Amino acid sequence: MPGFELFGDAERKEVNDVLDTGVLMRYGFDGMRKGHWKAKELEQELQNRLDVKYAQLTTSGTSALNVALAILGVGAGDEVIMPTFTFVASFESILNAGATPILVEIDDTLTLDPEAVEAAISPKTKVIMPVHMCGSMADLDALKAICVKHDIFLLEDACQAYAGTYKGKALGSIGHVGCFSFDYVKTITCGEGGALIMNDETLAKYADQFTDHGHDHIGNDRGAETHPNLGYNYRISELNAAVGLAQVRRTDEFLMIQRRNKKILKDALKAIPEVSFRRIPDEEGDTATFLSFFMPTAELSVKVVEAFNKFGVDAYWNYFDNNWHYIRKWDHFKDLKTLYPVSDHIKNGMQNLNSLDFPKSDDYISRNISCLIKLSWTEEEVYERAQKMVDAIKSVL
Ligand SMILES: Cc1ncc(COP(=O)(O)O)c(C=O)c1O
Repeated sequence: MPGFELFGDAERKEVNDVLDTGVLMRYGFDGMRKGHWKAKELEQELQNRLDVKYAQLTTSGTSALNVALAILGVGAGDEVIMPTFTFVASFESILNAGATPILVEIDDTLTLDPEAVEAAISPKTKVIMPVHMCGSMADLDALKAICVKHDIFLLEDACQAYAGTYKGKALGSIGHVGCFSFDYVKTITCGEGGALIMNDETLAKYADQFTDHGHDHIGNDRGAETHPNLGYNYRISELNAAVGLAQVRRTDEFLMIQRRNKKILKDALKAIPEVSFRRIPDEEGDTATFLSFFMPTAELSVKVVEAFNKFGVDAYWNYFDNNWHYIRKWDHFKDLKTLYPVSDHIKNGMQNLNSLDFPKSDDYISRNISCLIKLSWTEEEVYERAQKMVDAIKSVL
């Protein structure tokens, strides 16, 4: 997910515009800013590119999730369904909202299993939060149908899947709200940053206010603005937005390179019958940031990892032992270790994650290997890598 690999003149130019004015804040200072509104321009670019009515920048993908849950009215006593395989931010943002995370199994898409989601719905469920992990999407038709049936919200965590599509629509635009991360290692980067997108005017107004201490942003006098509701500071700086503005315009270039590189690697691995691939509900919309494949057994995937090391293949993960992305090693969540007391709603509503098993997720994650696709590889390097991967896998079969 490496937009940072191609940081260059375009990014420097946008940042220098901001440095020349000295106006680092996204609001106000109209007279000093020489017409530069980087955050606003980036929001407009996102709206155009993703074909949505509203985009709201934030300081990170994590804060975008916090804002999304707040504007959907999620709080004490509510449950949010999330997958076992995701980034820690999913769990964090739900707790931050004062709500209760309900973890359910994933399937061969490496994202939420719709059957497990349906089984987990309770009268307290307010949101289903699919996470489009490793650049590819969840089974959105099935998840959306469940949301419609139960009259609950669909919140897409598309933090790892900016610029992906599902049946022609941008990932993030299919649910009520979609969130992106533009941190250092995402397809496009702001250094640190994030965004949420939506089509509903009221949700957009709430997002605009909530990200800036509840300011209504009416008029030209910040001190005189009113605060219809509580908010916090999730404002992106103009410097971060400037980097993102240059990067967003390079989206197609980045996607083209990622897709070319991934295709070469995938075509090479297809020749090995023991290798199967993650199911991608809409292949055309894959952002191609990762090539994720399964070995027939967990033992074989451990051997492949060892062989990759031996053959000099880098930039891959087997998430079974990873501390960040899979429930198995989230001890601080399992034991609800917080610096402050949590509400009884959360304490009483939490699943007992220490004793719950997720056999289906364990099976998929233990057999999975996900390989990062980089932008900086030459075509020749990708072909060499493909050969090394094939040789490494064959050596353990
Ligand atoms: C799926 C997912 N959600 C949320 C986030 C949080 O994004 P950020 O690092 O911008 O806070 C990440 C970051 O890696 C992520 O992968």
